[in-house]
Amino acid sequence: MTSHDLSASKDRRGRRSLAPVLLMTLVASAPAWADAAPGAAACTGCHGPAALGSAIPSLDGHAAADIVAPMQAFRSGEREATVMDRIARGFTEEETRAIAEWLAKPEAARHAKP
Ligand code: HEC
Repeated sequence: MTSHDLSASKDRRGRRSLAPVLLMTLVASAPAWADAAPGAAACTGCHGPAALGSAIPSLDGHAAADIVAPMQAFRSGEREATVMDRIARGFTEEETRAIAEWLAKPEAARHAKP
């Protein structure tokens, strides 16, 4: 066996062993969003946990009303925004309320079974 053969078989092993890991990640993450209000998962992509200290304000600790009110202001144009005006216009009042209620729940309660 040449050294070339050896490294090629290592590559194949590497790819084979990654697939179950990726699958497990997908399976493990699926239930996390299963009970989220439609659209809510998109918010958390930008609005992460406060602990991460992003330039985008965290929504941690916001009551539902503290999310609905800015969303209305973004939608109407009353509050200036870079992206939230467009995002807010993508949801109806009812959808916004459902998303806000889900986001306002503590992390553990979001995924708790009723
Ligand atoms: C592309 C990234 C992005 C996504 C996705 C996003 N936001 Fe935002 N959000 C921002 C930014 C940036 C701001 C600051 C205002 C601005 O510049 O638009 C903001 C501000 C806010 C604020 C005001 C926060 C405060 O304390 O003043 C609320 C509430 C909010 N977003 C809710 C949401 C909700 C609800 C969703 C999902 C429907 C969402 N955002 C999705 C980037 C995002």
